[in-house]
Amino acid sequence: MERIYIFTRFERFWHWTQALLVIGMMITGFEIHGTYNLLGFAKAHQIHTVAAWALIILWVFAIFWHFITGEWRQYIPTMKGVDKIIRHYAWEYFGAKSILSSSPVPASTTRCRLQAYLAVKLLINPILWISGLLYLYYNELAALGQSLDLATIALIHTIGAFMMLAFFIAHVYLITTGHTVGAHLKAMLTGWEDGEGEHAK
Ligand code: HEM
Repeated sequence: MERIYIFTRFERFWHWTQALLVIGMMITGFEIHGTYNLLGFAKAHQIHTVAAWALIILWVFAIFWHFITGEWRQYIPTMKGVDKIIRHYAWEYFGAKSILSSSPVPASTTRCRLQAYLAVKLLINPILWISGLLYLYYNELAALGQSLDLATIALIHTIGAFMMLAFFIAHVYLITTGHTVGAHLKAMLTGWEDGEGEHAK
């Protein structure tokens, strides 16, 4: 069986580090919010702050890497086969037929998903980061005469957190829709995808 290398070492590092940090931020964030009591407020708050900085550093590093290597090009949208993709996702996708079958425009499916993910993350991340930084430096900003309302900042940050949670649930579901339930997960762990799936054609 033919095997195709689709995720480089850096992409896997970047994906899993980000996944770990975002999951950690959701767990600690909703504890800060008061949804449950797991680590205790002080610990949750400490971890949330450290992970926030780690995430920001990781993103700066990844943006730098994308430009150095030219990898940013795979995010440029293409209209090739877009009609088939829309038809597939609009009404064939949730039918039993298509769940385990290949996708409409084989070679560009991963690329198409990357673009969809990027679009979502380019909306959600700035909401979380900007409101998060305003939250973090609220006292300093207040001392400088900035009169932003803390309740509004907290509300925007919480809305961003729920958007991230929705993204996470949809993402985990999409992971299971490769040519086998575990195919995409395996590819992101090892870098290799079996040639039976959509990439083989
Ligand atoms: C995946 C990303 C993130 C998620 C899911 C998340 C989630 C949350 C949630 C649910 C809260 C509680 C909000 C409330 O009830 O008032 C919170 C608080 C907070 N978050 Fe985030 N957050 C994320 C990223 C960030 C980032 C990037 C920063 C900073 C740059 C940040 C800084 C803060 C701060 C300072 C608080 C308030 C802590 C306190 O009350 O002392 N968060 N976060």
